[in-house]
Amino acid sequence: CGARNFWCMLKQNKLSTYLKRGAISYDSSDQTALYIRMLGDVRVRSQVGFEPERRSSHPYLFIDFRTLHSKYESHSVPERRLHRLLSCQRYLHSSRLLRGVPQQIPLHILDEDYTGQARCMLEKVGNWNFDIFLFDRLTNGNSLITLTFHLLNHYGLVELFQLDLVKLWRFLVMVQEDYHSGNPYHNAVHAADVTQAMHCYLQEPMLAKSLTSYDILLGLLAAATHDLDHPGVNQPFLIKTDHYLATLYRNTSVLENHHWKSAVGLLRETGLFSHLPPEDSLNVERDLGSLILATDISRQNEYLTRFRTHLDQNNLCLINASHRHFILQMALKCADICNPCRPWELSKQWSEKVTEEFFQQGDIEKKHKLEVSPLCDRETNTVGDIQIGFMAYVAEPLFAEWTRFSDTRLSQTMLGHMGLNKASWSSLQQEQTSIPAAPSHLMITFCLFLLLLPPLLINH
Ligand SMILES: *[C@@H]1O[C@H](CO)[C@@H](O)[C@H](O)[C@H]1NC(C)=O
Ligand SMILES: *[C@@H]1O[C@H](CO)[C@@H](O)[C@H](O)[C@H]1NC(C)=O
Ligand SMILES: [Zn+2]
Repeated sequence: CGARNFWCMLKQNKLSTYLKRGAISYDSSDQTALYIRMLGDVRVRSQVGFEPERRSSHPYLFIDFRTLHSKYESHSVPERRLHRLLSCQRYLHSSRLLRGVPQQIPLHILDEDYTGQARCMLEKVGNWNFDIFLFDRLTNGNSLITLTFHLLNHYGLVELFQLDLVKLWRFLVMVQEDYHSGNPYHNAVHAADVTQAMHCYLQEPMLAKSLTSYDILLGLLAAATHDLDHPGVNQPFLIKTDHYLATLYRNTSVLENHHWKSAVGLLRETGLFSHLPPEDSLNVERDLGSLILATDISRQNEYLTRFRTHLDQNNLCLINASHRHFILQMALKCADICNPCRPWELSKQWSEKVTEEFFQQGDIEKKHKLEVSPLCDRETNTVGDIQIGFMAYVAEPLFAEWTRFSDTRLSQTMLGHMGLNKASWSSLQQEQTSIPAAPSHLMITFCLFLLLLPPLLINH
């Protein structure tokens, strides 16, 4: 996508030129809002193929993704933010990490003290109670790079696809750096968590006996990149603030398209598959897109209906590549929303993080006198309400079908955790003696969240 090319171009040699153009403005009355005219220079814009800039009444048209959730760095000077915006930080960081690329040892970036413990954890990377938060601390914030590198080796994919280790390492560093560490939820740890869940699903008998190495490679890459460069706000927010990405992707799967195109940008930039025939690397890019686009939660019913039909008619045939691809899509969808299926101590942390991200969006909406999005109002929603609704209307229907497809110990464990977690949130809600949200109200909120009409949801 354009943004990627833009950053690429900056990294090549135009960084200083761009900085001198100074096409940047920020609202000095508000330290948390830095408005940047990323595309300020017409020549830059036309070179990278952006849609023409449009004027809008919204002052936050140029709201900067990277500073949306940056309250922890409220003292940083604008200049520092600027570097982050331009992905310069990532660039510097990458080159620092790349300086001593080892041929074999993926854990060289770890502090010596923690290396052993992180390695030890990796031996149990296929366990459903794998603590990704602990792993992230032990790897000094490099859980996504370390985990993905380990898994690609574990499955023998590096050798099989003759991946260049230096390119692969560079690719993974850039992927991790392109997640926004300031997002409470949609950051690299979420991506690592989804990748770990994907690994667990890939080992389920139904998949293990039918997937090809190509499927596995694709599944892992899609999991690692599926939320790349996520701004920490949702699609309706981008649409109502007239963000260029909404225009670029015509209000449809705006974020997912951006994640996909960002991933493609990094694949091309690092040349990870440049040794493959062009046709093959184009297929990788296309299939990656089809997996990432399946994570659009507003298309949940579409996928669920198709899954149900296959299961009812018992006609999934995993020798057929397109059926395998469909199962990979479902696996990725499950991995993406499996938080309620994790043990309480992990699940609870995810719930708090995702709610905080929603509430921060709500705060921004209130500040700019926009309508507050469903689930985003910290005055009227609670973590528990949101979780209970999410489980009832989104996660349970999906995992029920997944269990029909793959009725294993893992599936039963996941359903078991989800039941317990739901009960825990319910009892916490009652303790708080707040007026319990009426079920019908919750359902309507979730329909809005899914961008669906209520009858569609009731019908299944
Ligand atoms: C996207 O949605 C906005 C707001 O509803 C609308 O003004 C705009 O025309 C839509 N764009 C496209 C391409 O449909
Ligand atoms: C594979 O499945 C697709 C979709 O169901 C179908 O259109 C196609 O004919 C199948 N291919 C083979 C070789 O059976
Ligand atoms: Zn996700």
